[in-house]
Amino acid sequence: MTFDDLAPSAVAGFTTTQATPARIYDALLGGKDNYAPDREAAGRIKEREPNAELVVHANRYFLRRVVSYLVGEAGIRQIIDLGSGLPEQDNVHQVAQDLAPETRVVYVDNDPIVLAHGRARLADNPNTTVVTADLRDTSAVLHAPETRHLIDLTQPWALLAIAVFHFVPDDPRNIVGAYRAHMPPGSHLAVSHLSHDATTPEVAREITRIYQDATAPMVLRAHAEVTAIFEGMALVPPGLPLIMNWRPTGPPREPERAWLYGGVGHLPERRHDAGDVR
Ligand SMILES: C[S@@+](CC[C@H](N)C(=O)[O-])C[C@H]1O[C@@H](n2cnc3c(N)ncnc32)[C@H](O)[C@@H]1O
Repeated sequence: MTFDDLAPSAVAGFTTTQATPARIYDALLGGKDNYAPDREAAGRIKEREPNAELVVHANRYFLRRVVSYLVGEAGIRQIIDLGSGLPEQDNVHQVAQDLAPETRVVYVDNDPIVLAHGRARLADNPNTTVVTADLRDTSAVLHAPETRHLIDLTQPWALLAIAVFHFVPDDPRNIVGAYRAHMPPGSHLAVSHLSHDATTPEVAREITRIYQDATAPMVLRAHAEVTAIFEGMALVPPGLPLIMNWRPTGPPREPERAWLYGGVGHLPERRHDAGDVR
């Protein structure tokens, strides 16, 4: 199935006349799953910030390193990916299942095009699924039959929120808090977030203005606000740097300025004192 086979009318809430964050991002990544308003918005972003394509690719490299860390080093085998976006190269399930094929992945996005593509591509992957939901609706995400089928919330799991909270005006601390209530010790959270203090005020203003015409506004947050999303968790080293400085592995090419901070936190394992009853 190609993008053109997906009749807009076949997907509820689908718009071709207004740009969406998922498709603008796809256009910046050089993908084909976008329409004229998305390409126009991507073009305007590139005019204001010539590094834009490098930045979105840097975010994808960050995501790949994060998933490799979670599965390869932290032993995570269950992942819920909020604001997963359209399928690109090196998707979360591919990176994770290359390292540990039994890893279960639930993609969550509120753009229905993500579900349409996911269904087409994941039909023969029993460990991966897509849920269409607003990430703010914790219950819709965690209680979806697809999530319940793949994710055992009594075992450690990882929540990814990569390049998505800057499309959500609500305080991400409260959103994460609602998910954290369902996370056993050993669970992880990974976030990357656009920040106005990682770019210039003019560029920040212009980019924000471009998203005012899209289906979701852009909300930039300062480093301290992004740090606060990890409240109650321990940040794994090196903390919350610009994304290309989070456990870098060298080439491919990275931008000098990346606009996004990124990091991984974890809920510490419970300590058993000598007198604990087990
Ligand atoms: C910039 S893309 C990031 C994709 C992927 N996480 C990555 O980093 O490569 C942001 C995605 O978040 C989704 N999104 C925005 N607001 C959302 C919400 N409230 N609930 C669920 N998904 C949302 C958009 O539809 C889009 O696909």
